[in-house]
Amino acid sequence: MITLHRARWLFDAPTLERLRYIEKGGIVIEKGRILGRGSFNELRRKFPKARTIDHGENSVITPGFVDCHIHAPQMEMMGAAGFSLLEWLENHTFPTEQKYVKAAYAKARWKEFCQNLLRCGTTYAAIYSTSHTKATDLLLEACREAGLRAHVGKALMDQNAPQALLQDADSALIELEELINKWADETKVRPSITVRFAPTSTPELLRGAGKLHEKYPDLIIQTHLGETTDEIAWVKELFPHSQNYATVYAENGLVNHRSLLAHCIYLNEEETRLLHDQRSHLIHCPSSNFFLGSGLFPYQKMRHAALSIAMGSDVGAGWDLSMQTTARCCYEAQALQKYFCKPAELLHLITRAGAVAMGGSRSLGLLEEGFKADFVVHDLSEREVVRLRAERSDSPEDLLSALLFLGGETTVVETHVDGRRCYKKNR
Ligand code: GUN
Ligand code: FE
Repeated sequence: MITLHRARWLFDAPTLERLRYIEKGGIVIEKGRILGRGSFNELRRKFPKARTIDHGENSVITPGFVDCHIHAPQMEMMGAAGFSLLEWLENHTFPTEQKYVKAAYAKARWKEFCQNLLRCGTTYAAIYSTSHTKATDLLLEACREAGLRAHVGKALMDQNAPQALLQDADSALIELEELINKWADETKVRPSITVRFAPTSTPELLRGAGKLHEKYPDLIIQTHLGETTDEIAWVKELFPHSQNYATVYAENGLVNHRSLLAHCIYLNEEETRLLHDQRSHLIHCPSSNFFLGSGLFPYQKMRHAALSIAMGSDVGAGWDLSMQTTARCCYEAQALQKYFCKPAELLHLITRAGAVAMGGSRSLGLLEEGFKADFVVHDLSEREVVRLRAERSDSPEDLLSALLFLGGETTVVETHVDGRRCYKKNR
């Protein structure tokens, strides 16, 4: 069956500088792929047999949002305030994550998590589970069930956390490999190699994780790097023989083109060069950085150094699942450093840049012929000020800006992954 979706506006951003838009546009979908994009009338003529779905005069279609760093067990503790990173982990995060030892508890929370990602228009995410293997398996299952595209990581930890979250390196890696094999035939949801961060890892765990990546090189690697100055000082104490924080990972085969490195606020020149040369991806998580007071990501500097940058909500340090909120916080973090992102740049960062970072460069993140049909339908009239603001916008770019800044979960009305509608707002 061929379907033609009509929207008042279509937006996507192939590069940081380039915004594409079509007024009264459409996308044609068959078997989960985009067959065509263009003006609705032309598509109607070209595909006369297509079933038409008209999303109305206040509708906007964008590519699905891509979240390159989020912790599923932390949705239930978003906004738990009062601490900077290390104290926050100890007081809020680790106690919460321990609850996921119970499979029934995890299963119920994962279902809520996946539904709420879709409600915000996220179609593709790199997700941390807890350290529990069973919970991680259930999270993969929940993502598949919900229709999400996802990389899901068992959070490897074998020191410096409560005993209930630790697992010795050998058995953790054996269980992870079993999970990798169990999910080997799936392409849409995949396990990832996820070292929580250096302080909760022994050298044995880091080495074993790197070896596992050598064996399964197309899996993504997730970890945290250079988030706060306290964390960096702790890493220096724990790994006195490593030249710097990034090297702790690199020495173990964990820094390459499959690595998603969250935060990267405090990198020195050597680390920056290393990540550039290894074609690793820096995942900017500004709402988290504000919440924990971690610092301001030097986006402009990293961009000029030609590093790959994508975005993450980093829930629960980030306090909203919406990648539109993440984009707003990115804007603010950069404005404080006297750099003002354009709407195209923000849209690119939360769609195409994430897809490229996670390896879907040929088929994800744009409303483009041949691409997978991952998209969001927004309705400007779902929030009065958005509708009013859009009515008075003086250009398509300005209208997108209004939607990015004033819209969000409230204005997302449908989320489609692989051409399948996975979420529809009750209206
Ligand atoms: N570093 C190690 N674990 C975490 C986490 O759960 N959240 C954030 N923001 N940083 C971390
Ligand atoms: Fe994180």
